Amino acid sequence: MAVIRIYWKDAGPGFDSPQVHVKVIEKGILDLTPREMRQCKSLSLRHNGLMCEDLRDWRQFELSKASRRYTRKTRVWMIKDEDDRLLAWALATPRYKARGYDAQFYTRKSERGKGYGSMLMELVLALDAKPNVFPHDKTSGDFFKKHRNTIRFDRSDTKWLNEV
Ligand SMILES: CC(C)(COP(=O)(O)OP(=O)(O)OC[C@H]1O[C@@H](n2cnc3c(N)ncnc32)[C@H](O)[C@@H]1OP(=O)(O)O)[C@@H](O)C(=O)NCCC(=O)NCCS
Repeated sequence: MAVIRIYWKDAGPGFDSPQVHVKVIEKGILDLTPREMRQCKSLSLRHNGLMCEDLRDWRQFELSKASRRYTRKTRVWMIKDEDDRLLAWALATPRYKARGYDAQFYTRKSERGKGYGSMLMELVLALDAKPNVFPHDKTSGDFFKKHRNTIRFDRSDTKWLNEV
């Protein structure tokens, strides 16, 4: 089932920033339309990250019989503008043999620093109060650092949090 929320939000930092209308769509992975699958796959680090691959693999898994035993399902949140352009999205996948979720985020380069990542984080935190995340560079380290008391980090990646 899809949950759709509409927000008015400042288009960027600054006092006189215009307001834009954005739509946040929350869906299970099997409810994504083919267009949404394409949009999400193309707005990612592609082969340098895991979102694209995870989206494909988890969809395959949830289509399979084996997934029936799993009560925790994958969730996707998409932030879109009025023209249905995907601005940012997040993917939460159940952790293997552990409680909770792994969470990944991606914001379109031209839309970064406008708070979309934080909006997505709030939505992920409503699903899992302590998701596991994967900082992999200074920018993502800074982003996750803001939430360091609520989220969980892969031990190998914490160097990005200590560096600043
Ligand atoms: C990490 C990422 C998702 C952040 O998205 P975003 O929409 O720019 O995030 P926000 O605008 O909500 O920023 C939230 C906070 O993160 C930090 N932050 C984000 N971008 C930053 C940057 N370039 N430099 C320093 N801090 C930054 C800031 O503390 C910011 O807080 P503020 O709004 O109070 O200044 C985005 O940079 C991205 O898509 N990176 C590529 C993919 C990636 O690394 N994903 C994370 C790993 S899965």
